[in-house]
Amino acid sequence: MPAVSASAPGKVILFGEHAVVYGQPAIAAPVTGVYVKVIIQSNPIQPPGSIEIESPAANFHATRAELPEQHPLHILFHQIEQTLQISHLPAMKIRINSTLPTGAGMGSSAAVSIAMTRAITQFIGLPLANDQVNQIAFEVEKAFHGNPSGIDNTVITYQMPIYYVRNHQPQLIHVKEPLVLVIANAGAAPSTAEMVAGVRQRWQQSPGRYEQIFQRIGQIVQSARHVLEQDNWKKLASLMDENNQLLQEMGVSSPALDRLVNAALQCGALGAKLTGGGGGGNIIALVEAESADSIARKLMERGAVHTWLTTLRPIPEDHQQ
Ligand code: PMV
Repeated sequence: MPAVSASAPGKVILFGEHAVVYGQPAIAAPVTGVYVKVIIQSNPIQPPGSIEIESPAANFHATRAELPEQHPLHILFHQIEQTLQISHLPAMKIRINSTLPTGAGMGSSAAVSIAMTRAITQFIGLPLANDQVNQIAFEVEKAFHGNPSGIDNTVITYQMPIYYVRNHQPQLIHVKEPLVLVIANAGAAPSTAEMVAGVRQRWQQSPGRYEQIFQRIGQIVQSARHVLEQDNWKKLASLMDENNQLLQEMGVSSPALDRLVNAALQCGALGAKLTGGGGGGNIIALVEAESADSIARKLMERGAVHTWLTTLRPIPEDHQQ
C-alpha cells in the first residue's frame, strides 16, 4: 500500500470556554497556520495489528503493544477498529509531525486524533464521514480531559468557525468580514482537566453566582455570533473584554494572562481575552490587519513566549455548504 497522509489544524476558542461545559454555547475557530500531519506507511514484514508510532516533536516512539490500555492512542486505535468493525488494523508505521504546541489550548490532542483517524482510514481504503471522525476524536478527548465539552474535536474536524452547544450538532459560522487575531502564549498552563475541575468545585460552592456568570457568557456568545455573521467585526471587541472579565471572576485567569491581555490592549488591540482552559496558555487579541505584525512583536517584547496570527475569512458563496 502506498504511503498516505492527513493533516488537522489547531484551534482557538473565541467565546464561551468553561461555560460551554455547563450547556452554554461557545464559538471556536480553526487556526490553519499550525497543524498536525500524520504519515502512514505499510510495514509488510510485521504481523497484522503491529503498529509503530513515532513523533519526533514529542520525542515519542512506541509500538501499539507497548501502550498502556488507558493511553489515548491505544483508545484511538481501538475506537477506529470498532467503528470500522474490523478485528485489527494492518501492520503500519505512523509518523506524527506537528507544529502545534501541546498544552497551550490549541487543540493538539484533538488534532492528533483527527489527523490519525483520517490517515489510517484512508490508508486502509475505508475513509469515514466527518461525524464519525468527530465521534472517535471525542472518545479520545475524554481519555485526555475527563469531561470535555467536545468543542475542540468538533471545530478541528469541520475546519470552520463553529457555534457549539454540548451534545448538539455544531452550526457552521460564515463570517461576514475577514477577522485578524493575534494569539499569544503566556507560558505553561495547568491541564484543562484541572482548570475544569476547579470551576466545578467553585460552582458547587456558589452555584447561583456561577450560573449567573455562565448565563451572561451565553448571551455574549449569541451577540458575538450575530456580529460575526452580520455586523461590523469591531463590535466583537467589547464582547471579548466582557467575556474575559467573567473568566477572571470564574477564577481561570492568571497574572501572566492578565498582563498579556492588558499589554495587547495597550499596544493597540481592539479587544483581548484569555482563550481555552486558562491558568496560563494563550490569549487572543482582535486587531486591525495592518497592525497585526507589530502588535505580535510588541507582545513578544512584553513577555509572550510565542505568538501566532490567524485570519478568519468569509467563504465565497458558491463554496458554502
Ligand atoms: O484548553 P482548551 O483550549 O482545550 O479548552 C478547553 C475549553 C473548556 O471549555 C475549558 C473545556 C471544554 O471541554 O470545553
